[in-house]
Formats: sequence, C-alpha cells, structure tokens
Amino acid sequence: MPLTRPSNHADISMGLSQRPARISPKYFYDQHGSRLFEAITQLPEYYPTRTETALMQQHAADIARSVGTGRTLIELGAGSCQKARTLCQLVQPACFVGVDISADFLQDAVAAMSADLPWLDVRAVGGDMTQGVHLPDDIPRTGRLVFYPGSSIGNFDPPHALQLLAHMRELIDDDGGLLIGIDLPKDVTVMEAAYDDAAGVTAEFNRNVLRHVNRLIGSDFDVAQWQHRAFFNTEESRIEMHLEATTDAQVRWPGGERAFEQGERIHTENSYKYPLPVFTDMLARAGFSQAQAWTDERGWFAVVHARP
Ligand code: AVI
Repeated sequence: MPLTRPSNHADISMGLSQRPARISPKYFYDQHGSRLFEAITQLPEYYPTRTETALMQQHAADIARSVGTGRTLIELGAGSCQKARTLCQLVQPACFVGVDISADFLQDAVAAMSADLPWLDVRAVGGDMTQGVHLPDDIPRTGRLVFYPGSSIGNFDPPHALQLLAHMRELIDDDGGLLIGIDLPKDVTVMEAAYDDAAGVTAEFNRNVLRHVNRLIGSDFDVAQWQHRAFFNTEESRIEMHLEATTDAQVRWPGGERAFEQGERIHTENSYKYPLPVFTDMLARAGFSQAQAWTDERGWFAVVHARP
C-alpha cells in the first residue's frame, strides 16, 4: 500500500497553518522514523517497552490462560512484530495479522516472522489506524484477539482513543478480546527522561518528522533550525513533544507558507498516561465490560485483557 495518500497534503498543510502549528505523530513513521523508534525502545531511559516485556514474561501463564489458544491474533501498529513473536509462542494463534502504517517496514518484519514461525499463517496489512482498520474479508471473524501493546493508545487524545477502542470492539465478535498496554502516571523526572534521552535519539526521531513532511508535501523545512522539546503536562496527564524554532524560519510548500518566529513551536505528539481506573472506565464505555489487568511492582505500566 503506498504511504502517500492525496489527503496527506491537505492534512499536513492544515496542521502547519494552525496556531500553534501541529504535525500528527503518524508522520513520524517513515522507514527511518520506524528504525529510530526501534532504537528508542532500547534506550536506558525509555522504560515502557522493557517494563511491558518483563510484565508479560512474569505473567505469561496467567495471560495465556486468560487469552486462550488458536486465536486470530491481530496486532495494530505491529512495527517490527517483536512483541507479537513472543505472544505467538505463548498463545499459539492459528493466524497472525500485522497492521501498520509503515507498510515497507512491516513487510520485512512479517517476512522474517513467517520464516521463523513456519507453522503460523502470517499476513501483513498496511493501514492508517487513525482512519479505522480495514481487514481483508478472508481473515476469520470468530476468536479474534486484537493486540495493541506499547501504550500506543496514549498517542491519541482521549475522545479519539475512546473512538479507537470502540472501533476495536467492532473488529471482534462476542468471543473476541483485546490485549492492550497502558503507560501509567509516575514520577515526572522518569517520564521526562524517557522522552528526552541523553543520547538524543528521541530528538532525532522528533526532528525526522520534518524530513518526512518535506517529502510528503514538498516543503522546505531546514531540520537544523528546529530543536526537540519534551515535558510532562500535569493537568492533561500527558507528555508533550514539540519542535521549537531556534531562529526565525520561513517554510514554503506548494499551496502554502508559514513564517515561524524564533522560539515558536510545532506540537508533534502527546503521550497520555492514564491511571488504571480511568482507562478501564474508558474500556467499558467502548463496549469492553470485563477487564483483567497485570501491573509491575512499581506500578509503572499495565497490560489489560479486555472482553465484551
Ligand atoms: C509509540 N508510542 C507509544 C511512543 C510513546 O511512548 O508515546 C512514541 C514515542 N514518542 C517518543 N518516544 C516514543
């Protein structure tokens, strides 16, 4: 599936014209951005991935019992499919469907997975989650388990997250389920370090969005003129990422232009940290009335198995 759709131009151009300007975090994930994100997950400061992995290992038997075997496992935002590989060993699904916006990156990951797990029916579906997931008709409807790890739901604003959860409910029948990872609120210094690492990988990930935007809409952002900013907004319970102009900057693209003053920001991402009861309430409103949750000893992260 091609990554560039005609609507990208209108979407990005509209975001750049807003005050403050915005770029959707979905544009982080070109091939380089997807690789940078993989590097982020290995950083000492970025606790979510390793906390979630440890949590799933620690409660593997319980999670497997709760989820059941022989399912059609559908991973949303599959990326490298690394987490799904571990889960597949655990719950032995009949079929695995990886869904990701970065279709090229996904194709490679799915091909490698298919080679390593020859007993598994493996499929790749390119798709933009923000537009709703459209699965091919030949994916079995019964016994589906939607897998959405990594606390990616936190990258959507709460009304949109609720909409997305309701959409996940529509993807499954009454015998299906959702296994989802949630990042919980914690010490602000821990959260801020996770989004502003010493090695500058997150800064590079943030700035790379401008290169991707330049390719998508033909803009002339000079990446060197922008610096990474990340901080926790306590009122909204979210980490915010921005790009801040280090100098006055004029940006042009076909059909538009914008003058940024030094210090002006482009808002590129929110990462909401939900207390568990707030999130289970959201799940209930989306049609998942049963939820079983596992958390680590520090209470930093939760994995939730939700059922209709
Ligand atoms: C993909 N998502 C869950 C990441 C997060 O933690 O919000 C994206 C990310 N942004 C900066 N670092 C990681």
